[in-house]
Amino acid sequence: MIKISPSILASDFSKLGEEIKSVAYAGAEMIHIDVMDGMFVPNITLGPCVIKSARKVCDKIFDTHLMINDPIRYIGDFAEAGSDIITFHFESCTNHVEVINRIHSFGKKAGISIKPATPAFVLEPLLPLVDMVLVMTVEPGFGGQSFIPETLESVKIVKDMLTKLSLEVKVDIEVDGGITPETAPLVKEAGANVLVAGSAVFKAEDRGAAIAAIRG
Ligand code: DX5
Ligand code: ZN
Repeated sequence: MIKISPSILASDFSKLGEEIKSVAYAGAEMIHIDVMDGMFVPNITLGPCVIKSARKVCDKIFDTHLMINDPIRYIGDFAEAGSDIITFHFESCTNHVEVINRIHSFGKKAGISIKPATPAFVLEPLLPLVDMVLVMTVEPGFGGQSFIPETLESVKIVKDMLTKLSLEVKVDIEVDGGITPETAPLVKEAGANVLVAGSAVFKAEDRGAAIAAIRG
């Protein structure tokens, strides 16, 4: 099943609650929340207090994407704020198993993400431990960038590794960056089943139609 996770980075933060409710009503299964620390990526967004407020207006799955250094420091805060899935970057730490275990200790799903240049095979030993793999299809840091076609190979490699390990039903493959009705068929064909879309949903005149077009 294809799930759509609109990224609130492209929303109007002055009315965040209404924006989240609008995409939930428009058919999104999840809400993608981009957390940036100005260190792991050259941009700063939001923290647990914003998620805690947003949690009050929406009961969809909160898909928190941590783009922060040394994420173990903040797993508890993001879990308690109301995240359902917490994804961190392979490149942001060395204690991957500890971070995954910390996320699970709060009863949350754990995701691990790679940047476009990181070879997908590095994830293989961690696949039995996670609930989701996020393959970045742009450089993390900003919304509104163009999809990088070379990342399709990473999606395929992740899919093949999961199949080889008989984990393809248990572990979701998410893609994030430059996802539009035009690029969505490519990532689905490669094996992705959770599609993040920021600009393509929030900037659309008809958000329901945009979500339906991306879902295909
Ligand atoms: C980028 C973020 C993405 C971004 C996607 O670092 O992780 O979630 O908001 O935005 P679009 O869909 O506009 O590329
Ligand atoms: Zn993201």
